[in-house]
Amino acid sequence: MAARRPALSRVESRLDFADWMAACAGRVEAALDATLPASGAHPVRLHEAMRYAVLGGGKRVRPLLVYAAGELSGAAFGALDCAACSVELIHAYSLVHDDMPCMDDDVLRRGKPTVHVAYGEATAMLVGDALQALAFEALGAAVTHGAGPAAGVAMIVDLARAAGSLGMAGGQAIDLDSVGVSLNQSQLEDMHRRKTGALLAAAVRLGAACGRKLSAPEQAELERFAQAMGLAFQVVDDILDVEADSATLGKTAGKDSEHNKPTYVSVMGLEPARQFAQSLREEARSALASFGPTARRLGDITDLIVQRSS
Ligand code: IPE
Ligand code: IPE
Ligand code: MG
Ligand code: MG
Ligand code: MG
Repeated sequence: MAARRPALSRVESRLDFADWMAACAGRVEAALDATLPASGAHPVRLHEAMRYAVLGGGKRVRPLLVYAAGELSGAAFGALDCAACSVELIHAYSLVHDDMPCMDDDVLRRGKPTVHVAYGEATAMLVGDALQALAFEALGAAVTHGAGPAAGVAMIVDLARAAGSLGMAGGQAIDLDSVGVSLNQSQLEDMHRRKTGALLAAAVRLGAACGRKLSAPEQAELERFAQAMGLAFQVVDDILDVEADSATLGKTAGKDSEHNKPTYVSVMGLEPARQFAQSLREEARSALASFGPTARRLGDITDLIVQRSS
């Protein structure tokens, strides 16, 4: 039976968090489905593999952040769908490449064989290339769905920076260089902020940018939130790599120690890493205080990020 997916509308503030998340997941799934070329489109193998990489899996945390941040600025849902799609496409591409044998060499992702296992390495590389390009095409469409041209261009620049060599791709480069190396905590934090935090923070800024322009103090508090939440996400990812099993995670557990990667668990120990994640959660939540009830969903997502089991 299909999961219950209430339509998301202005009355969504009355939905409880689980229903709100289901509604957002439904919206972004439909938007991704419509944005990705049909699996029968030429070249068929590439398009099939792109759809395999993106559809029907993942927690969709980045799209949730986009929709939640849109509540702060009264953003139009059409523009939010475009922004949500774009960050999830960048994320999906990053996972395809992250799993390849030249990077983390993983065979399981979102409970399925990884893209290079299912379709071969060359196709996996092209899937990543094509998803990244599609992300910017999707974001450009926000301009005609309520965001306007100035915000649209600013969002494209923001996402490009977050995904690029000073953000996610650079963080991944540092990650690869760190195999077998002992990093201190500030080096580890820098790597995590880039490889994972940058895109999560961009999701928050993009969601807000789809609506009215926030004041400078509002932007500063939102950024403080985004930075703490983004770091917390990867701290918890490091913890789950040690604590959770592969079936729950939908990806291979224990990969970090197997590959001798520095993580918050290897650098701090498990319990201090848990406490650090809690302190980041508190910092993130305190940054939301000045927004009042419109930031309720961002607060709920922060709790979910820190308390999740997968
Ligand atoms: C996994 O991200 C990769 C990291 C950046 C740590 P998610 O935990 O959000 O993966 P999905 O989207 O739910 O599969
Ligand atoms: C991945 O970090 C970060 C990006 C994909 C950019 P990890 O390598 O820790 O992610 P998982 O654990 O494989 O999902
Ligand atoms: Mg990795
Ligand atoms: Mg990995
Ligand atoms: Mg990990």
